[in-house]
Amino acid sequence: MTSLEGQGASAGVPPVHVSVLSQEVLALLCGEPGERERLAGWFVDATLGAGGHTQLILSACPGLRVLGIDQDPQILEIARDRLASFGDRVRLCHGRASQLATILDAQALPAPQGMLLDLGVSSLQLDRPERGFAFHADGPLDMRMDPTRTRTAADIVNHWDEADLADLFFHEGGETRARRIAHAIVEARRRQPFLRTGALAELIARAAPSGGKHHPATRAFQALRRAVNEEGEELIAALEAAEQCLADDGRLAVISFHSGEDGVVKRYFARGNRAGRWRTLTKKPVVASRAEVRANRRSRSASLRAAVRLKLARGSEVAAQPGGAQPEDDA
Ligand SMILES: C[S@@+](CC[C@H](N)C(=O)[O-])C[C@H]1O[C@@H](n2cnc3c(N)ncnc32)[C@H](O)[C@@H]1O
Repeated sequence: MTSLEGQGASAGVPPVHVSVLSQEVLALLCGEPGERERLAGWFVDATLGAGGHTQLILSACPGLRVLGIDQDPQILEIARDRLASFGDRVRLCHGRASQLATILDAQALPAPQGMLLDLGVSSLQLDRPERGFAFHADGPLDMRMDPTRTRTAADIVNHWDEADLADLFFHEGGETRARRIAHAIVEARRRQPFLRTGALAELIARAAPSGGKHHPATRAFQALRRAVNEEGEELIAALEAAEQCLADDGRLAVISFHSGEDGVVKRYFARGNRAGRWRTLTKKPVVASRAEVRANRRSRSASLRAAVRLKLARGSEVAAQPGGAQPEDDA
């Protein structure tokens, strides 16, 4: 999900994580109701979160089992409770989507029949100030989804040079006032390093106030989160891992909340189509209905794409190329 969505319940996001495009994901990964009964084998939910999509898949497809992966151990525990009633039909693992091949190997699981990537951050992470993602509530300037990562947002804010910070805010956040914000940060940190989200958000609001509906720090915070968690690199590596690991005719569905990410997925599938490695199932991205957007504001910037991994593809891996960073949709 995108951080241009509000941060926490105060901005209209429900306090629990509500899965987006659930029925659309189910239809693309598992087919129509009659087909779901006949599915067997393993699926991978490589960004498990609170397990909402996995719960739906397990309920709808009695012959399926799901390997759930998340890089955030706290979130994994929430999913463990939620999915406990499915017993050994679900297996959970701390790790990154990009590590899929290693994880499947370690778990001695066969090639999965389907995989979901629901990218970005969970409401459960945004709503906990102590995780350092939120600018509406003060917390440590952290933003790591995976606590085994060593670099925090504070490391970037206090140590990157001004030009690199400006590039980051522009390319990863679509922030047009990137240079002004970077300059203000570099000036302010000479006096005192930034350790808290509140101090950084206040500085940005003073340096680059905005009259828009979003908090002035929204885009800079998104850019920092993407850098801390290496979200761009992770996406490309996860797509390649899916191509390498999925069973023949296995399906991959990707939900992105960032126009740059959606572009990467679109081009990856388009190249795969041309090379006979993938068959795209979605000519255009599937987006949330008005009713879903009304019920869950977070869904308004979601784009879903899906494709089938073709049999001929085996052994013809071609590295994905990033499609160039684009500013995020403001929707
Ligand atoms: C948008 S939430 C997923 C919500 C989930 N689909 C649901 O219905 O509850 C994204 C989750 O993916 C995790 N995540 C993001 N990138 C990841 C990656 N590259 N590898 C593993 N987990 C990742 C985050 O920690 C977060 O918990």
